[in-house]
Amino acid sequence: MVQRTRRQFLQESVYAAAALSAAPMFSGVSQAQSTSANDKLLCAVIGCNGRGGGHISAYAGRKDCEIAYIVDIDEKVGQTCCDGVEKKTGRRPKWVKDMRKVFDDKSVHFVSTATPNHWHALCGVWAMQAGKDAFIEKPISHDIPEGTALVAAAKKYGRICQVGTQCRSNPAVQEAVKFMAAGGIGRVDFARGLCYKRRRSIGALGDYPIPAEADFDLWSGPAPYTTPKLTRPRFHYDWHWQRLYGNGDSGNQGPHQTDIARWGLGLNRHPNSVIAYGGRLGYQTERKDPKYIDAGDTANTEIAVYDYGDKCMVFETRGLSVDNSADEEINKLFGKPTANKIGVIFYGTEGVLVQREYTHCVAFDRQGNVIKEFKGGGDHYGNFLQAVRSRKAESLNSDAFQGHLSAALAHLANISYYLGEKNHVSVGQAKAVLERIKSRDDNIATLNRTVQHFKDNGVDLEKTPMSMGPLLKFEPDKEVFTNSAEANQILHRQYRAPFICPTADKV
Ligand SMILES: NC(=O)c1ccc[n+]([C@@H]2O[C@H](COP(=O)([O-])OP(=O)(O)OC[C@H]3O[C@@H](n4cnc5c(N)ncnc54)[C@H](O)[C@@H]3O)[C@@H](O)[C@H]2O)c1
Repeated sequence: MVQRTRRQFLQESVYAAAALSAAPMFSGVSQAQSTSANDKLLCAVIGCNGRGGGHISAYAGRKDCEIAYIVDIDEKVGQTCCDGVEKKTGRRPKWVKDMRKVFDDKSVHFVSTATPNHWHALCGVWAMQAGKDAFIEKPISHDIPEGTALVAAAKKYGRICQVGTQCRSNPAVQEAVKFMAAGGIGRVDFARGLCYKRRRSIGALGDYPIPAEADFDLWSGPAPYTTPKLTRPRFHYDWHWQRLYGNGDSGNQGPHQTDIARWGLGLNRHPNSVIAYGGRLGYQTERKDPKYIDAGDTANTEIAVYDYGDKCMVFETRGLSVDNSADEEINKLFGKPTANKIGVIFYGTEGVLVQREYTHCVAFDRQGNVIKEFKGGGDHYGNFLQAVRSRKAESLNSDAFQGHLSAALAHLANISYYLGEKNHVSVGQAKAVLERIKSRDDNIATLNRTVQHFKDNGVDLEKTPMSMGPLLKFEPDKEVFTNSAEANQILHRQYRAPFICPTADKV
């Protein structure tokens, strides 16, 4: 009998639901545009301010592609990017502010999107309904049902959908994962992902002007339209730290590291449970004003413990200064005592393997001697374009399903954290809870290091305590919580018409 893996099971249930779907929004273009090997692929880059610039450089630098459209709701950003493409390629793309114009143009083969997170899934679903392939930045979703919808849409419309977790295309990480699978550091059933990355306050919560060049209604899209009112000083980028739009560093840096951790542990499914604790602390101390309210509302320090039964993963976000003397072991593994540390540590029975950089991994034996190094970057966009031409979705290094699983880890942690936000705990109370949680990590050592991190940054946890979310049990195949109605209620957000992302059964 052929055994079905859990991954197949989840994909089948998602796809079965998709088969019952409603009509797509963009009708009449559900077939792939045909391309011969010599044809140029026409594309639209959607969302161009920061990361979108990387997408533009990647496609503008290739002879087999042409950027036909720059899509940005900010005209200044859009025109500047058009200038850049024209200078580089001699052809000026068309700037449009509404992505739906691109979906209506049958000559466009694919879109490449680096909008804020709250737009990713709707943009991807609309693109695929319109017969376009889609490169979508991480995290591919703003919540779990959106990721499931993207997986279903790619399958239903036969589209190529790559996610922007580019480490999947880097030989350094590919080889390190192979090395572990071959037993290079023995049996590995625990990984720790780190985002020790300094994040300053984004400014005081307030009412700020929206740049004249920006269309805030289109920018808000599927998120609530805040009147119009901008509650943070800086329009671009800082939305990462406001939960209506972003997912904090769990959903910003996290999907790179949790993706590598899942890959190295061989976990092609959701976890069975999650618990998260932490806070958005330290900015009052930094500003020397106990009444200071930062405009961000995601955690700047968040620890998530994921249980997979026989395996376990921890993801640690630290947004305050990481010049932390309590982390000697971690400092040694990363080879740098004071700077940011972003990576994954795999703990094996015969050694440890560290992903130190996107293009550099190091394996150590049990005595701490280096036994192997892995180096090298790859071409994630190239991998996508090859699949666009070959129509072989299985050749993608980072397809929608993998992107969905890794984004979901951020969403699971944040749901636990948000539910527990008002549950302020003393260090002793946190210890008492964590002692009872099943984990392959030393939960108390991780807590102690987190507490030390706060102390090192002048945070008095008695005056501004951490908070702790509930231990949430999750049914991986059905994608529902089994012990919290409250958690199920915030699994999926409300939309604002006409920016409604369909669920998997309606893509
Ligand atoms: N893979 C990576 O290594 C990597 C690195 C950085 C950022 N990212 C991802 O890229 C995305 C963008 O991040 P950023 O830091 O560049 O943000 P940003 O705010 O600097 O840029 C987003 C751009 O999207 C535009 N935009 C917003 N809504 C739009 C819409 N409906 N249609 C068209 N354009 C729209 C904005 O005007 C802005 O120009 C995020 O999802 C982030 O997680 C990935």
